[in-house]
Amino acid sequence: MPDLGSCIPFPIDEETLNEVISKAKDWAIMHGAAMRSKADFSEDSVQFAPFILLPTLFPRREFEKAVRLQPILNELMHWVAHDTEFLRETLANTIKVDEFTRNLFNIYEKILADESAQSLSLGLLRSDLMLESRCTDNDHKRPYCCWKQVEINTIASGFGHLGPISREIQSFVLSELNYADKVKNLPLNGALAGLCEGMVEAWNLQAISNAAILFVVEGVTYNICDQRFHEFYIREKHPHIKVIRKTLTEIHQQASLGPNNELKVNDTVISVVYFRAGYEPGHYPSQNEWDARYLIEKSVAIKCPSIGYHLAGTKKVQQALAKPGILKRFLTDDIKIKAITDIFTGLYSMDSNTDEGQNALRMVLTDPAKYVLKPQREGGGNNVYGHDIPDVLRKMSEVERSAWILMERIFPPISKGYMIRPSGPSPPPLVDLVSELGIFGAVIGDKKAIVYNAHCGHMLRTKLEKSNEGGVAAGSGALDSPYLYDD
Ligand SMILES: Nc1ncnc2c1ncn2[C@@H]1O[C@H](COP(=O)(O)OP(=O)(O)O)[C@@H](O)[C@H]1O
Ligand SMILES: [Mg+2]
Repeated sequence: MPDLGSCIPFPIDEETLNEVISKAKDWAIMHGAAMRSKADFSEDSVQFAPFILLPTLFPRREFEKAVRLQPILNELMHWVAHDTEFLRETLANTIKVDEFTRNLFNIYEKILADESAQSLSLGLLRSDLMLESRCTDNDHKRPYCCWKQVEINTIASGFGHLGPISREIQSFVLSELNYADKVKNLPLNGALAGLCEGMVEAWNLQAISNAAILFVVEGVTYNICDQRFHEFYIREKHPHIKVIRKTLTEIHQQASLGPNNELKVNDTVISVVYFRAGYEPGHYPSQNEWDARYLIEKSVAIKCPSIGYHLAGTKKVQQALAKPGILKRFLTDDIKIKAITDIFTGLYSMDSNTDEGQNALRMVLTDPAKYVLKPQREGGGNNVYGHDIPDVLRKMSEVERSAWILMERIFPPISKGYMIRPSGPSPPPLVDLVSELGIFGAVIGDKKAIVYNAHCGHMLRTKLEKSNEGGVAAGSGALDSPYLYDD
């Protein structure tokens, strides 16, 4: 695997390293680059979130390309979320076996029949990309790095605060190490403002002066700083807009619809609903939470995401979009279609009753190391990697298999760095790392038109080269930010 190099000479001597890490950890805690501890949970304290001490090198050209692509992806996802026939067809087999997707889909179908439901929706998306180090084409003599999409998130796209704050931690570290001149190579990151302004834009479209924005949250929130900074931003920049946080269980107990389907939580009118929960079965412990989701969907509040957007973000839809010729259904411009097609890696259906599914099964059993097997789930920890795949497939019925998709594994270039984690080794070893870039976008519209489409910043997560997944809250990934170089 090619090595990207580092932004300053490594290794850093032990004394300097220990000193700067101690400062950086305190900087992180005191600026909200933090989370609640899973191992030692208390509502009253946070720990710094794992971070990479210095930013990771990225070719400027590739970074800018990913940024330019976002408004096109926004457009694509908007039209996918509003294409009922496509969602029905694509998810038909999935909903037969996957109860969670079926529950979402049932709400979707019920709402379609409802003329009074809100037609506008707010998408706050995050497109996750990895550089693939083995791209080839006719223009290049040797393999080169190009972006490949890992997935696109349409619900609870987190790190709008932790993304930008990672840049600030690393800028602080660079300056402490006497490299302040290098800070200019860390691109500015307006993710928090961009995402929050998307919500405010939706609030303005509703124009209900005393209405609040409802954040739908989990009973216990580990990633509390990220969520609260969204709330604090809105309240600081737009003091007339109140934010309230409720779980689906509380919404079931406290929410109701007014005569014109306006959503109320106790006495507070809600004009915009932002889901930071609701993307996994555990968030719906009983029918009550599903009833709450339905109530929200039926209301005239603008949802982020609407059920259509939520379904558009499923892995099955991602796989269907990668089929040849499908993008034409949603985009007319060939340049846009080509730009998106270029970031798709091999994605295959596992339907047992199609030739494609049978071929995919043969391919993965022949060379499992090249693939990742994914169910219809979000939030990390659900995929199956490489040599674990054959066993998992063997234990599944043919019907169950159709709820999964097969994806080619991306092999990103490696960079070296220091990963700083709570209770980690001191000094930390210099380790091999790989990164995943998330680009945020905001989009508002209905089935006829898009009225708002913006790129809004980025986040970078970096993990040990050897680990499969890089969830920061899960403990295997760390906050990071790109350091751009011209190649
Ligand atoms: N095709 C792939 N190649 C390499 N790593 C992958 C691939 N797909 C997923 N991963 C890794 O697994 C993680 C979780 O996968 P993802 O599809 O994003 O699911 P989730 O919805 O759980 O976040 C990613 O963040 C990435 O680190
Ligand atoms: Mg993901």
